Amino acid sequence: MIEDLWYKNAVIYCLSVGTFMDANGDGIGDFSGLERRLDYLVGLGVTALWLMPFQPSPMRDNGYDVSDYYGVDPRYGTLGDFVAFTHAAKQRGLKVLIDLVVNHTSDRHPWFQSARSDPDSPTRDWYVWSKTKPPHADSGVVFPGVQKTTWTYDRAARAYYFHRFYDFQPDLNTANPRVQAEILKIMGFWIQLGVSGFRMDAVPFVIAEKGPEVTGAPVEQFGMLRQFREFLQWRQGDAIILAEANVLPRQDLDYFGEDADRMHMMFNFQVNQGLFHALATATTERLLDCLEKTRARPASAQWAQFLRNHDELDLGRLSAEEREAVFAAFGPDPDMQLYGRGIRRRLPPMLSGDRRRLELAYSLMFTLPGTPVLRYGDEIGMGDDLRLPERECARTPMQWSDEPEGGFTKSARPVAPPIRSGPYGYPHVNAAVQRHDPNSLLNWLERIIRMRKEVPEIGWGDFTVLRTGAESVLGLRYEWRNNAVVCLHNLAAEPIEIRFATGLPGEGGALTDLLTGERNPPDESGRHTLLLEGYGYRWYRAGGLDYLLKRSEV
Ligand code: NOJ
Repeated sequence: MIEDLWYKNAVIYCLSVGTFMDANGDGIGDFSGLERRLDYLVGLGVTALWLMPFQPSPMRDNGYDVSDYYGVDPRYGTLGDFVAFTHAAKQRGLKVLIDLVVNHTSDRHPWFQSARSDPDSPTRDWYVWSKTKPPHADSGVVFPGVQKTTWTYDRAARAYYFHRFYDFQPDLNTANPRVQAEILKIMGFWIQLGVSGFRMDAVPFVIAEKGPEVTGAPVEQFGMLRQFREFLQWRQGDAIILAEANVLPRQDLDYFGEDADRMHMMFNFQVNQGLFHALATATTERLLDCLEKTRARPASAQWAQFLRNHDELDLGRLSAEEREAVFAAFGPDPDMQLYGRGIRRRLPPMLSGDRRRLELAYSLMFTLPGTPVLRYGDEIGMGDDLRLPERECARTPMQWSDEPEGGFTKSARPVAPPIRSGPYGYPHVNAAVQRHDPNSLLNWLERIIRMRKEVPEIGWGDFTVLRTGAESVLGLRYEWRNNAVVCLHNLAAEPIEIRFATGLPGEGGALTDLLTGERNPPDESGRHTLLLEGYGYRWYRAGGLDYLLKRSEV
């Protein structure tokens, strides 16, 4: 059954175990704490979790520097706690995806320690070495301003090693068949412990040719992606890989595979940047261009749509002028910007905490073609702490209540400082308070998630852009199995009246507002008139009030 592709109509929630909920009171979030919060997550309506790296790590890059792929960092619990958690998630019908960080290891990993100290080590050629410093060593850095080079000299090895990211993250030599076999073993291990797939970190770099002789754009080994997928499907048919690959639209088909035999899902970085451009400028042209360019995909492939994640908002694919417009609107202060290409803030402060704009942004993200991905704290409108370095500012602990440390921990020494004061401080912004307020962002988001799950057309269907006559209004129609929905978003602060045709065959049916039940009948020419408030949005189903029943029609 095609409906078995669960990721097509999922709502994914990303979290970091260490900052989510601390059960044992040591100041660090743990698997037991996360397990206690599973009913909260199910209540919110999310259907899948994505856990950021939780394996043993020196934690110099928030866990993206793994020193043991087959364990749980003792700060977060034990492997036993992990399995208790995946079991509890499964009982509630929640899928669990975990980060798979295999482009590089930590420099503390025993593989690297052995490789650097002995030229005959069995893992020496698991890494990428050069006797001399390659001439292009200072190009291709991922974190400009913080990272200086991609080749660092190691005294013990008496050679330079390659690292696409920080110098404490030596790249694995992924072309080596033994490394590839180990990657499969890692996937197999976690699948066995109850996960439903992986968010694969830095995929273009994993499959890139590496070595001192590589100059310019490295050639990608796409066959590797097929190998990963085949292995995974063989071990567990419904497991998936969600790729982090910020590539140009013409390249993304290479990642999905023309025959849908590579990655199941990819984050849509194009649309993410177009979306922020649209929010910043109240124009839809750029966003529409991104949507068009990422339209054609194999039927089983899926985009992951998101607003903000744990990294900076990367605006590197926009033109300089477009990027400046987004900076001016959402991150004018140089301290809000990062790596010369992005903004490091969370969404609510970017939107000045304006509830109308927040709703617009989430409503828009939930109605873009693909599967929505939320980040912990989004549901209550958490802010950031710009005093923290780099990307840490947007990684503060979850704010559960107005108790000390936001109810995240009973310890007075939390792993990262919760936001204690100001408009985003936990005394004001927390889950407990919002639970009791029917109009809170939390309860609004819960309603939106329920609605999104009842509109499978968005995850499954094809979209058509509606002509609304207003450059600030995005109108999309989705169709799937004789059902259709129409989503309209006004990006501007001013109200606007629009007239539009749904373009559906047999034009003339009323539209039913999925949030309020109100009907919008067509005029004699078959068109609908609508007054959209500033930052207003509507989700309509074409057809009558039995819109929920329509879902079963094939
Ligand atoms: C992408 C991750 O999202 C980021 O947080 C990390 O620093 C790099 N990959 C390196 O693993």
